[in-house]
Amino acid sequence: MKLNDNYKNLNESYLFSTIAKKVNDFIKTNPDKEVIKLGIGDVTLPLCSEVIKEMHKAVDEMANKETFKGYGPEQGYDFLKQSIKEYYEKKNVSLELNEIFVSDGAKSDLGNFLDLFDKENVVLIPDPVYPVYVDTNIMDGRKIIYANANEENKFLPMPDSSIHADLIYLCSPNNPTGAVYDREQLEKWVQYANDNDAIILFDAAYECFISDSSLPRSIYEIEGAKKCAIEFCSFSKTAGFTGVRCGYTIVPFDLKDDNKINKMWLRRQTTKFNGVSYIVQKAASAVFTSEGQKQIKENLNYYKENAKTICETLDKLGIKYTGGKHSPYIWLKCPNAMNSWEFFDLMLYKLALVGTPGEGFGENGKNWFRLTSFNTIEKTREAMERVYDYFK
Ligand code: MLT
Repeated sequence: MKLNDNYKNLNESYLFSTIAKKVNDFIKTNPDKEVIKLGIGDVTLPLCSEVIKEMHKAVDEMANKETFKGYGPEQGYDFLKQSIKEYYEKKNVSLELNEIFVSDGAKSDLGNFLDLFDKENVVLIPDPVYPVYVDTNIMDGRKIIYANANEENKFLPMPDSSIHADLIYLCSPNNPTGAVYDREQLEKWVQYANDNDAIILFDAAYECFISDSSLPRSIYEIEGAKKCAIEFCSFSKTAGFTGVRCGYTIVPFDLKDDNKINKMWLRRQTTKFNGVSYIVQKAASAVFTSEGQKQIKENLNYYKENAKTICETLDKLGIKYTGGKHSPYIWLKCPNAMNSWEFFDLMLYKLALVGTPGEGFGENGKNWFRLTSFNTIEKTREAMERVYDYFK
């Protein structure tokens, strides 16, 4: 018996588990302190009523002999795929139903998709970025090269034609920096991927936070992207499904010759995955009705209001940041040249506030810190009062 030695190359625990442990230890030893969490990007508003109504109906169907469902199609029910297809039509992107794969979330698909790629592929990952891209490739032992995201390029690194990569991760709006690629920038990435016969793994989990219609919300808004990109999306941040679990991945037929990757992904999913529950898929389909869209927008606006509160506080204090406008994340430069773990400790031990140290997202995040807008309005205001009083 031989274990996968690549695991030795990982940090001892996943970023958010390390933070949760530190925070729980603090809470145990400081039971009188009210800790406010602006750390992991987990939502606080409940599911909207349209979703709940559909979910209840689906539960009742499962209680009835005539409407009960057993195994569903591994790729997802047509009713949900049809709603996703129509959602993309509004972005002027036309998809076939079988290019859409419903899953239990973007994180699992981002990791699972690597089953399809040889270990010899060179992977290009922006630094800083969502740690799952790096960790899942380390687990497989792939060579990773980094694209520097920094203050100079506004955390939006661009391709370098002198460097070859086979797999490229892009996340826009970006986790953790909140930076968003514009059309021209994405065109350059698509061009680079097609020139290099590479594949872009495009994480669009935060697309619904984009409020400027000139910014692309899907990579398929860019010509040529169906030849080189897979898009991962999720209901977690859009509709509060972090605990319910549902997402979808688009694998275009045009991606490489002979519909090869779509077929491989179908083969992989039919073998290793039994699909998302009918109840959850019914709930997810309610997100796309006109009432569902209206209700989730109200929730998104609530979080945007929190982002505004955070940005205004940082503006008053003269602290530099990115994000917040088209993203639930605010990425700030740690005051007084502190490193991000020092700043994490200061926030936790002095102010009872939790954020995420930038270093957890990569080397380039070592003097940066991420706050989320997903807490309640009251707690976000209280948190920002604590920050303002301490740093003013
Ligand atoms: C985050 O805080 O970066 C996200 O919640 C992580 C995730 O979506 O898995």
